[in-house]
Amino acid sequence: MIRNIFSAAVVAFSLVSCIAYAFAAEDKVFKVDKEFYPYYPSLMKWDKTSAPFTPPETCGECHEQQYKEWKGSVHQLAFQDPVYQGELNKAVKAVGHEIARQCEGCHSPVGVVTGEVKKPGISGLSSIALNGVSCDVCHSISGVTHTQTPAKVPENGSFILKPGVDGKDGPVLIKRGPLQPSQECGGGFHSCEQSTLHKQADLCASCHQVYHYDTHFPLEATYNEWKQGPYAQKDIHCQDCHMVDSATFRRSADDFKKPARGEYRHYFNGANYLLYYLASAAAQKAGDKQLADTLTEKYKMAVDRLQAAADMEIAPVYRNGSLAELKIRVKNVRAGHNLPTSLTNVRQMWLEVTARDDKGEVLFTSGTVKSDGALPEDARVFNSDGMGNDFHFAIDPWVVTAFSRHETIPPRGYKDVFYGLAPKKGQKVSIEAKLRYRQADQAVAEALLSAVPKDIDLKAIYGLERVPTLPIVDMVVRKAELTVAGK
Ligand code: HEC
Ligand code: HEC
Ligand code: HEC
Ligand code: HEC
Ligand code: HEC
Repeated sequence: MIRNIFSAAVVAFSLVSCIAYAFAAEDKVFKVDKEFYPYYPSLMKWDKTSAPFTPPETCGECHEQQYKEWKGSVHQLAFQDPVYQGELNKAVKAVGHEIARQCEGCHSPVGVVTGEVKKPGISGLSSIALNGVSCDVCHSISGVTHTQTPAKVPENGSFILKPGVDGKDGPVLIKRGPLQPSQECGGGFHSCEQSTLHKQADLCASCHQVYHYDTHFPLEATYNEWKQGPYAQKDIHCQDCHMVDSATFRRSADDFKKPARGEYRHYFNGANYLLYYLASAAAQKAGDKQLADTLTEKYKMAVDRLQAAADMEIAPVYRNGSLAELKIRVKNVRAGHNLPTSLTNVRQMWLEVTARDDKGEVLFTSGTVKSDGALPEDARVFNSDGMGNDFHFAIDPWVVTAFSRHETIPPRGYKDVFYGLAPKKGQKVSIEAKLRYRQADQAVAEALLSAVPKDIDLKAIYGLERVPTLPIVDMVVRKAELTVAGK
C-alpha cells in the first residue's frame, strides 16, 4: 500500500531501529581491517607519494575533446548533484558522519583522500573536489582492493588511486589509459602506462556496485547484472555503450560489435535526464548559454538511450472463445544490465494502459499519474521496494537492508504483465499502452531536494521557486486492436 508514499511515520520508525542496529552490529558482517581500508566504509585506497592530483581544467588544456565531452556529464556533476547532496545531508543527520565517507568515496573520491570534503555542501571546495568523478580519478586508478574482502566482489569504491610516484627530481605523474603509449605520450606533463583495466567493466565496477554501508546488502548492482548477462559473455563492456555516441551504442547492443578505437567518447551518458535538466537550468541562470546548450544535448541523448532500451508487444488471451486478458510483454532490448538498473528502489518505469470498446468508451485504465504526481496503487511498476530490518517499506540507503519486491528486466530478457478484460458487447477492443519512466516519485524528489545543505540555494543556483513537476519520458508507445471473439 505504501509503495509510492514517502511515509514520514514509517521512515522515522525505521530510522530508530536502524540506529540501534548500527551500534549493535559493529563488524557484524565481516571484520574490517581499518588500516588496510583507511576510508571505510569506502573501500578506496590512496597509494600516497609526493605526486599531487590534477584538476580537470589542466588535463583539458591538452585533451580538449575529452574535456568537452566530460564537462556537464553525470560524472562531472556527481558531487554537486543537488539530489545527491540532499540525500547525503539526510544520511549524515540520521546515522552520523562516518557514512559520508562511503558516499563521497564514489561521488568525490579525491575530495575524500585529500581530506578536503568534510561535510555535506559545496562551498569553499577546490575544482578537483567539486568535479566529482574527474579525469584524474579514473586515469589514476592502478588496481582494485576487493580481492581482500570475504565477498571478493567489487563494491563501495574498491579501487586504488595512484596519481604518480616519487622521482629523482620530484614527483612524476603517471596516467593510465587503453593505449600502448607513444614516445611523446603526456607532452612532458605526465608519463603513460597501458592498462587493461581501462578497457574493461571492472574499472567501472568499484563504483557501480553500491552495498549497504554496514549490512552489506547490494543496493545497486549494475556490474553484477551485466556480468551475469549476454553482453559480458560477448565481450561488450560498459565503455562500449556509455563511452560512444548514440548510433555506436545501438550497434554495440544489437550486433555485439566492439566500437573502433576512434569511436570512444567521454559522454558517460545513461538515463539521468533530470540531472541534465537541473544543470541546464543552473547554466542558464549563470548566463553560460554554451554550457546550457551542451546540457540540453546530453538531455536528448539520455532520452534517446532510454527510448532505445525497451520494446513492447501487446497480445490477447482468450478463454472459452472470448477475450479474457490482455498480455503486455516488456522487453529489455538494449540495456547491458537490468532495466531499470542502479537505484532500482527510486527510479520508476511503469505501464500506463487504456482499453476502449467499439464506441470509444473506456473499459479500464491503469497507471495514470495522479494530480499530486503519485502513481496509482494499481500501476504495474518495474523497479524494487526497499525495506528495513523490521519488514517495513523504506527508501533511504542506510535503512534498506533487503528488497521486498524486485521486478527489473534482465538484459535481453522480458517480463509479461496481464490485465483482466471483460468486454460485454462489441467486436473489438482497442488498447493503448505506454512504457513510462522518471527518476523518482514526485514526493521523493521533493523530499530530497528540500533536504539540500544550506549552501545550495535552489533559487539562486537553479532559479527554482519550488520543485518542478518531474519530466516523464515515454520509452515505448504501442497500440493494438483485439477481437472480442477468439480461439
Ligand atoms: C559504490 C559507489 C557509490 C556509493 C558508495 C554511493 N553512491 Fe550514490 N550513486 C552511485 C552511482 C554509480 C549512482 C548513479 C546510479 C544511477 O544513475 O542510477 C549514484 C546515484 C546516487 C543518487 C541519485 C542521484 C540522481 O541525480 O538521481 C543519490 C541521491 C545518491 N547516489 C546518494 C548517495 C548517498 C547518500 C550515498 C551514501 C549513503 C551514496 N550515494 C553512496 C555510486 C555510489
Ligand atoms: C569514469 C572514468 C573516466 C573519466 C572520468 C575520464 N576518463 Fe578518460 N578514459 C576512460 C576510459 C575507460 C578510457 C578508455 C576508453 C577506450 O577504450 O578507448 C579513457 C580514455 C582516455 C584517453 C585516451 C584516448 C581516448 O579518448 O580514448 C584520454 C586521452 C583520456 N581518457 C583523457 C581523459 C580526460 C582529459 C578526462 C577528463 C576531462 C577523462 N579522460 C575522464 C575513463 C575515464
Ligand atoms: C601538457 C599536455 C598534457 C597534459 C596537461 C595532460 N596530458 Fe595526457 N597526454 C598528453 C599527450 C601529448 C598524450 C599522448 C597523445 C594522446 O594520446 O593524445 C597524452 C596521453 C594521455 C592518455 C592516453 C594514455 C594511453 O596510452 O592510453 C591519458 C589517459 C591521458 N593523457 C590522461 C591525462 C590526464 C588525466 C591528464 C590530467 C591529469 C592529462 N592527461 C594531462 C598531453 C597532456
Ligand atoms: C569513482 C567512481 C566511479 C567510477 C570509477 C565510474 N563511475 Fe560512473 N558514476 C559514478 C557516480 C557517483 C555516478 C552518479 C552521479 C549522480 O547521479 O549524482 C555515475 C554515473 C554514471 C552514469 C550516468 C548514469 C545516469 O543515470 O545517466 C554512467 C552512464 C556511468 N556512470 C558509466 C560509467 C562507466 C562506463 C564507467 C567506467 C568506464 C564508470 N561509470 C566509472 C561513479 C563512478
Ligand atoms: C549494451 C549496452 C550497455 C552496456 C554494455 C551497459 N549499459 Fe548501462 N545503460 C544502457 C542503456 C540503454 C541505459 C538506459 C536504460 C537504463 O536505465 O537501463 C543504461 C543505463 C545505465 C545507467 C543509468 C541508470 C539510471 O537509473 O539512471 C547506469 C548507471 C549504467 N547504465 C551503467 C552501466 C555500467 C556500469 C555498465 C557496465 C557494468 C553498463 N552500464 C553497461 C546500455 C548499456
